[in-house]
Amino acid sequence: MTSRAAARRPVGTVTRGTTNPNRLRRMDRWIAATHGSELRRAADPVAVDLGYGAAPWTAVELLHRLRTVAPRARVVGVEIEPARVAAALPYERPGLVFRHGGFEIPIPQRPLLVRAANVLRQYAEGEVEAVWQRLCGRLAPADPATGVRGGLLVEGTCDEIGRRHVWVALGPEGPRTVTFATRLGSLERPSDLAERLPKALIHRNVPGEPVHAFLRDFDRAWAAAAPYASYGARQRWIRAVRDLTADWPVADGPVRWRQGEVTVRWEALAPRG
Ligand SMILES: C[S@@+](CC[C@H](N)C(=O)[O-])C[C@H]1O[C@@H](n2cnc3c(N)ncnc32)[C@H](O)[C@@H]1O
Repeated sequence: MTSRAAARRPVGTVTRGTTNPNRLRRMDRWIAATHGSELRRAADPVAVDLGYGAAPWTAVELLHRLRTVAPRARVVGVEIEPARVAAALPYERPGLVFRHGGFEIPIPQRPLLVRAANVLRQYAEGEVEAVWQRLCGRLAPADPATGVRGGLLVEGTCDEIGRRHVWVALGPEGPRTVTFATRLGSLERPSDLAERLPKALIHRNVPGEPVHAFLRDFDRAWAAAAPYASYGARQRWIRAVRDLTADWPVADGPVRWRQGEVTVRWEALAPRG
């Protein structure tokens, strides 16, 4: 292979292409709610759906949901498996294109958003840090003079139909938060979400690690909030999260908790050592 061909080779590895319509709705809604103002005020709000899988549903849905808060938003679906790019091309439309590529992100712009859902799950834990750094390095930069926070990388994992979801949000400077999002009616206890932790955390759900302590405390708060179950799982969740705020740096409030979400500062859950 010539050096030019090697230079064009996408960065990363082809993995299983499993996806489903509406699977990433919780992540899409959170992005629209928390990142909408950054997308709205950007001159060219480009979002990347990195590793959209065997069918381009999640990219189509991301475009629709972002446009509800930022009408000029555009989405580029990037996939490392060429046949999945060919299969997606008929779905191109104004504001949505598909490109063959990998973690290098083969577009000229610095994106306002990179969403990588269920992509790193199939990589090794030791690869995550370097991938995060590479992707954060591609994000639109922050501008403290104007208060612009820059692009956002949202990287996480969910079940097949999107009922349980955990993701890390990172800015150009690095990791910011971890969000847990669930369909409350299907939840027995908050630690049910452990099996959907992103790659950086899933192997750290063991005694001595912060994420393990967090899920233990969350289960305790959930048990203590059992009397609120008679008002519904949502009221119980809100009560449990309110209790958690005494010991954990919860970064959001009741408007998000009502959705079956809670967002915690990354520093509190980051792996030890
Ligand atoms: C399990 S699918 C996820 C599909 C979709 N994001 C979802 O959550 O439903 C993972 C996809 O990521 C792709 N992928 C893996 N590494 C990649 C990389 N470095 N760049 C682009 N796509 C990648 C795989 O080829 C696969 O199609």
